[in-house]
Amino acid sequence: YHVDWDASAAEKGGYDYFMLKEIVEQPRAIADTLLGRLSVGGELTLDEMRLSAQDLRSVEKIVIIACGTSYHAGLIAKYAIEHWCRIPCEVEVASEFRYRDPILDRQTLVIAISQSGESMDTLMAVRYAREQRAKVLAICNVNGSTIPRESDGVLYTHAGPEVGVAATKTFLTQLAACYLIGLYLAQVRGLKFGDEIDAVIAQLATMPEHVEKVLDTVGPVRELARSLSDADTVLFLGRHVGYPVAMEGALKLKELAYMHAEAFAAGELKHGPIALIEEGLPVVVVVPSPQGRSVLHDKIVSNIQEVRARGARTIVIAEEGDESVRPYSDVLIEIPAVPTLLQPIVATVPMQVFACELALAKGNDVDQPRNLAKSVTVE
Ligand code: G6P
Repeated sequence: YHVDWDASAAEKGGYDYFMLKEIVEQPRAIADTLLGRLSVGGELTLDEMRLSAQDLRSVEKIVIIACGTSYHAGLIAKYAIEHWCRIPCEVEVASEFRYRDPILDRQTLVIAISQSGESMDTLMAVRYAREQRAKVLAICNVNGSTIPRESDGVLYTHAGPEVGVAATKTFLTQLAACYLIGLYLAQVRGLKFGDEIDAVIAQLATMPEHVEKVLDTVGPVRELARSLSDADTVLFLGRHVGYPVAMEGALKLKELAYMHAEAFAAGELKHGPIALIEEGLPVVVVVPSPQGRSVLHDKIVSNIQEVRARGARTIVIAEEGDESVRPYSDVLIEIPAVPTLLQPIVATVPMQVFACELALAKGNDVDQPRNLAKSVTVE
């Protein structure tokens, strides 16, 4: 029996592509982001951030800047930070930020999210924010890179090196880092750590296991992806934190499969995009948990019915045990039940696998997609 063995296969941990290895590494990557920072039933430890508790107590507004996938992490962070900390939070693509005369002052905390720490758009936005006297906190994966060096503080994601150009494990760890910051801000500001926050902390600690479970059950997603490799376009719908997850799903498909893919907030469907629905069009829908915010859940179930009635092929990502979506799902992908704000960590994984597999079915190089670079050091 002959096994092909070379240095490059070893580097990829036996996988054909770094991206596949990096998708599989996600449970460990998230655990590493949380390590030493999160203790269930206790306090969060983020002193390493270099921002004092006093700095964080005086924050009146948060502005998150980032590009690409990191921007999607920022969009999700906004929901968590505003909900837990009650601090107004805006999110903007870094390349637009300094060109619109944004309102910043000493009480503004700017959070710059960048895997590489070298994206020029984000770096220029960081420099601009510091000139305006805002405090800048970086969320970054590469130790000692430029953005954390030029920021007031940094929280590293510790995902390990990511070689695939399209971000996977670094995105999930950015989410974990954003949740840590949101919970920490609530802690230092003395906000009531009611049952909800305690439950979220306990759940955050179990996210590596949940992601592991999703990875164990994505086989059907791979088959689905192969069956759709001839589609011209795929639409993605979501609400609340599921909307940025839908955006990330669409971005992955563009980057890897070179397909037209677009995400909409499901509530916007009726204001235009529903005109796009035609027979056989694949529509991926991220369904919020039926628990808690059940109003949103029921609204999105209606959206699924609406697009299906117009011929769409519905691919539904929903919490396990959510039977209400089954009758309207051509394909149902189940994810573990977790608190709504944390759902992006589990809901993103099938989308990564979907885009990766579809790209492979088309014969694309998923590690080095055409026209893209891992870090873009020009503005
Ligand atoms: C490039 C990459 C994207 C990445 C973006 C932001 O465009 O191709 O995958 O999301 O840069 O990179 P950063 O390193 O700042 O997170």
